[in-house]
Amino acid sequence: MAAKQAPIGIFDSGVGGLSVLRAIRARLPAENLIYLADQMHVPYGPRPREEIREFSVNIVRHLLTQKVKLIVVACNTASAVALHHLRAAFPETQFVGMEPAVKPAAEHTQSGVVGVLATPTTFQGELYASVVERFARGVTVLQSTCPGLVGEIEKGALRSPETIRILKEALLPMLAQGMDRVVMGCTHYPFVMPVIKEIVGDSVKVIDPAPAIARQVERLLEQHGLRFAKDQGEVRVVTTGEVEQLKEVLPLLVGENWPVSGIYLPVSVTGKD
Ligand code: DGL
Repeated sequence: MAAKQAPIGIFDSGVGGLSVLRAIRARLPAENLIYLADQMHVPYGPRPREEIREFSVNIVRHLLTQKVKLIVVACNTASAVALHHLRAAFPETQFVGMEPAVKPAAEHTQSGVVGVLATPTTFQGELYASVVERFARGVTVLQSTCPGLVGEIEKGALRSPETIRILKEALLPMLAQGMDRVVMGCTHYPFVMPVIKEIVGDSVKVIDPAPAIARQVERLLEQHGLRFAKDQGEVRVVTTGEVEQLKEVLPLLVGENWPVSGIYLPVSVTGKD
């Protein structure tokens, strides 16, 4: 049985999952958190499914060596291709994953047109198809993969001309089709919500699933008697990429200077990297 003080492990291909970490921290400030950014392999979006699955397994193995009590797959892409596999491979571990928040968008749309921004792999996965099938009957669901946007956010370029160009290219055609809800289907994108809101205006609601994920984490911890509620928790950040670069970007994204360390996770199956 995992100890209450044990950390929660959270991972993503890069900095995106910090948008989920931020929501977990706001809701559960006493929890100790370990964040793993697989920046050596970012972006996951255009990669083959097997590769993303393999990276995810390696990350989970590492987080388990840190005695985490629960793991949040704070990446829609990894959730789409690896979550089933992770649950089967690590049956003792509690996982919380992401799914595009099409349900609340489809439930509340007035115009009957919603937009989803996510990676190609997320759109191609069964999880996305099943969410649209179950919750968006009779609703027009528009999609964009925002090519290049994850790279800009990784650099901390939250308002660069390139970021604005990519977002306009994605959002303006959706607006022209009457969209009144837009879903952040990639955990990187909440970091550019101020720009998104400027482009789409007040009549379009932007949906970030992170607060719902934090509530789900809380429910699971309570259900398993693992909620820790004393003191202020610690946050440790680990990257498979450049430590100095992440240290610079962290305050821009979350306004914090948490300790960052580097790690090398060998690729076990394909050995390609
Ligand atoms: N943040 C990720 C997601 O939620 C993945 C971005 C990427 O690496 O392509 O899908």
